[in-house]
Amino acid sequence: MQSIRDINIENKRVLVRVDFNVPLDGEQNITDDKRIRAVLPTINYLLEKKAKIILMSHLGRPAPNSRQKYSLRPVALRLEELSGRKIKFLNDCIGPQVESAVESMQAEDIILLENLRFHSQEKENAEEFSQQLANLGEVFIQDAFGAVHRAHSSTVGVAQFLPSAAGFLLEKEINFFSQILSEPQKPFVAILGGAKVSDKIGVIENLLSRVDNILIGGGMAYTFLKAQGLNIGSSKLEQDKLGIAGQLLEKAKDKIVLPSDHLIADKIDVSANVRTVEKEIPEGWLGVDIGRQTIAQFKQILKEAKTIVWNGPLGIFEIDSFAHGTKEIAEFISDLDCLKVIGGGDTAAAIAKFSLEDKMSHISTGGGASLEYLEGKELPGIVALKEIAEKSSNL
Ligand code: 3PG
Repeated sequence: MQSIRDINIENKRVLVRVDFNVPLDGEQNITDDKRIRAVLPTINYLLEKKAKIILMSHLGRPAPNSRQKYSLRPVALRLEELSGRKIKFLNDCIGPQVESAVESMQAEDIILLENLRFHSQEKENAEEFSQQLANLGEVFIQDAFGAVHRAHSSTVGVAQFLPSAAGFLLEKEINFFSQILSEPQKPFVAILGGAKVSDKIGVIENLLSRVDNILIGGGMAYTFLKAQGLNIGSSKLEQDKLGIAGQLLEKAKDKIVLPSDHLIADKIDVSANVRTVEKEIPEGWLGVDIGRQTIAQFKQILKEAKTIVWNGPLGIFEIDSFAHGTKEIAEFISDLDCLKVIGGGDTAAAIAKFSLEDKMSHISTGGGASLEYLEGKELPGIVALKEIAEKSSNL
C-alpha cells in the first residue's frame, strides 16, 4: 500500500475519503468531533504541499427524502473552527456545479462535498458514480479507516481510476491493529464486552490463538454463562448462539474469563432497584454490569499485561449506576504502562465519558472497521489500495 508520503500531491487536486460520520443531537449539533480532529494531520500535510483538497464522506444511513437530517454542513462549520481555514461546502458530491467549483480551486483551498450516501450508487459501488467522483481529483487519498470495511464507490471504486494512497490516520490505525495481531508483546489480554455475542464470535476465534486471556463482560457474557448451565434471569440471551458459545468455552476454558458476580437490576432505567449477586441471576432481574469480585479478578490479570485490546463496554455504562465496571477497568488500565488499544464505537464513547482518552495508546476511529480488522478479515478499502500498489509496481 502506498503512503501519502510516497505519492506526488504537490499542487494537485487531491480527493480525500474521510469518515465524518459523527454523532449529532436533535438540533444538528455535533456531540463528538473526534473523527474530524483525527484527519487534521492529513489535511495539514496536504496544505503544506499546496494541494487543492476535496473531502468526501458519508453521514449516517439516510433514507430517500431525509437529506436535511443527514447533511454534512454542520461538519464543514466544525472543520472550519478546528482547522482555522475556510471550508467551502457544496450541496452535492457530483454534477456540473461540483465540477465547476473544483475547476476553479486554488492551492490550499478546501472543499467538503455533501453526503455521498444521498446517491444510492455510492453503496452499490457503481462504476459510473465512482468515475464521476474520481474525475474531481488527480490523486486519491484514503483516510476513512471507519469506512474501509465497506466496498463502496468512495472506498473501492475511485481507487480504480486514480493514483491512490493511504492518509496518516489510516496508516496509524493499521499500524496499531497489525502490531496487535502480528507481534503482540505478551501477556496479551483482550477485553470484550458489548451487547451481542454474535458481533464478537469472529473476534474471539481470531484472537484465541494470539492472546493469553479474554475477559468477557457486558451483555454478551450472559449467553456464555447460560451455555455453562447457569441461570441468567431476564438478562440478554442469544439463544441461537448458545451452541457456539459452549464450543468456544470448551476450546478455551483456560483463556476465557467470565464474570463471577453481577450487578443486577429489575429494569434498564436510572430508577431501577439494584443488587449484586454471585453466579446465578434470579428470574425478573437482569445483569447490567460486572460485580466487584469480577472487577478485582480482571484487574489481577490485566496488571501483568504488556498488550491490551478492548472492544465493548462491560455494562450499560450510559446509565451512571451501571457504569462502575467499565469505569473502574478503564481507570485501572489507563495507569498501566503497556500498549492499550481501544476499539471505536461504544468503547471509545465510554473512554471519552470518563475523560481517559489521553491515557490510552490508541483509540480507534472505526467501530465496525476495527471489529472486522480484529476478526482478521480483509477490509475492501485497504485491499483496493494494496491492489493498486501491486499493479503499479508490476508496470
Ligand atoms: C461507522 O460509524 O462505523 C462508519 O462510519 C461506517 O458507517 P456505516 O456502518 O453506516 O457504513
